[in-house]
Amino acid sequence: MGRLVINSVSKRFNDFLALEDVNFEVAEGEFVCLLGPSGCGKTTVLRLAAGLEKPDSGLLCLDGKKISGVNKECGFVFQEYALFPWRTVKENIEFGPEVKGKTSLECEKISKHYIDLVGLSGFENHYPDELSGGMKQRVGIARAYANNPKLLLMDEPFGALDAQTRNLMQSELLRIWEKEHVSVLFVTHSVDEAVYLGDKVLIMSARPGKIKEIFDVKLTRPRIRTGPEANIIRDRVLKSLVSEIKIASKPG
Ligand SMILES: Nc1ncnc2c1ncn2[C@@H]1O[C@H](COP(=O)(O)OP(=O)(O)OP(=O)(O)O)[C@@H](O)[C@H]1O
Ligand SMILES: [Mg+2]
Repeated sequence: MGRLVINSVSKRFNDFLALEDVNFEVAEGEFVCLLGPSGCGKTTVLRLAAGLEKPDSGLLCLDGKKISGVNKECGFVFQEYALFPWRTVKENIEFGPEVKGKTSLECEKISKHYIDLVGLSGFENHYPDELSGGMKQRVGIARAYANNPKLLLMDEPFGALDAQTRNLMQSELLRIWEKEHVSVLFVTHSVDEAVYLGDKVLIMSARPGKIKEIFDVKLTRPRIRTGPEANIIRDRVLKSLVSEIKIASKPG
C-alpha cells in the first residue's frame, strides 16, 4: 500500500500558474526524488499530496482513493525541524499516536520502537533545543513514521545539515525505509542526494511547473556513491537540471 497517482494536476495561485498538467506516480514502496529550480512547485506538489492544497484540475489518489482534505495516511517531514519545543523527544514522537486516540501504553511502545530505529535511545527525555540538527531531524522522521503513514512526504529534510551528518541521515533513512516499506516522495536540491536515494529521479521545469524528465536509477543497494554507474546517472540528471535552472533564472 502507499501508491500515489498524480494525474493531470494543475494548480494556480491567483493569476499565477504554479503547476500545469503534472503527471507521475509513486509506486508502492518506491522512493521517488523530486528535483527542480527554486520556485518550480516542488513544495506545492507535496502540499497537494498531503491534502493541504486542492488542485484546480486533475486528480491525486492514494491507493485508488481521491485525496481530498488533509491526507491522514501520509507523514510530512519539513526542511525546518518543526518540532514542538515544549515536548520532549518521546512526547514529540507520541503526538500523532496520541491524537489518533492510542492509549499511553501503546504510545510508549510506538515511541520506543522509533526512538530505537532512528538511534536516539538515551535522549527520550531531551527537549529539541538540547539536540543537534541531525538529532532533531531524526525526531522529525521518527514522528512522521510513528503515524504509520503509507506515504512519506519529505521536503528538503536534510538541507540544513552539514555534509557528514547529511550522508549519515541519508543512509539511516534508507535503512528505515527498507525496514518499514513506506512509499517516499522526497524533495531535494541535491543531485547527489537524489541519485543516492531514489528509485526514480524526477526533474521539474519551472513557470509553469511540469515534470520534464524521469530517470530510473537502477543501481543496486547499498549504493556506492562514487561508483562509475552512479557518476553517469548523476551527470545526466545534473545536465537536465542545470538546463532548467538556466531557463528558470531568465527574466519573464
Ligand atoms: N500560497 C501561495 N500563494 C501564492 N503563491 C504561492 C503559494 N505557494 C506557492 N506559491 C508560488 O508557487 C510557486 C511554486 O512554489 P513552491 O513553494 O512549490 O516552489 P518550490 O519548488 O518548492 O521552491 P523551493 O525550491 O524554493 O522550495 C512559486 O512561484 C511560489 O511563489
Ligand atoms: Mg520548496
